[in-house]
Amino acid sequence: MLEIIKDKLRNNKLRLEHSLGVAEECVRLAKHYNLDNKKAETMGLLHDIAKGLPFDEQERLMIEAGYDTSISHKIWHAYVGEYICRTELKITDEEILNGIKYHTTCHPDLTPLMKVLMIADMTENRVRDEEMGHKLREMSLNGLNETIAYKLNWMIKRDFELHPDTVRAYNKYKGYVKEE
Ligand SMILES: [Fe+2]
Repeated sequence: MLEIIKDKLRNNKLRLEHSLGVAEECVRLAKHYNLDNKKAETMGLLHDIAKGLPFDEQERLMIEAGYDTSISHKIWHAYVGEYICRTELKITDEEILNGIKYHTTCHPDLTPLMKVLMIADMTENRVRDEEMGHKLREMSLNGLNETIAYKLNWMIKRDFELHPDTVRAYNKYKGYVKEE
């Protein structure tokens, strides 16, 4: 699997390090929350598989998959990643597929493993060493919903172009946001 990932990521060292770091973080959190470690690792390794593809190729695959290309192009890689895992890698596990698809936007119906992936994407510290990552790493062992809520709150405040799933997820989890 690593060879396919390397190839898709165009052998980009930082992207590969990020994927390995996210997989490590997924396992750390899965162990803590008694979730399937193996599945968590797979999700982490594969989540950005489409990120190395040029945008015209991502757009082509979005259309092929029947996904709406009017969503921000920064989100495409998550949808295309799911499509590649489903069609090329023949992954059938819906939790892995949907975890990848929603790892950037979030979604109101995430399972604990999908939440783990969303958190791990920001807490890996091989490539990302940001204040937000430290904060989430600290929080991540004290509740998945609280940590997801914190990340969503940060996304909303950052004034990103928000996907409707992000807004729906925020509405669901905002009760877990602890004001500082
Ligand atoms: Fe990522």
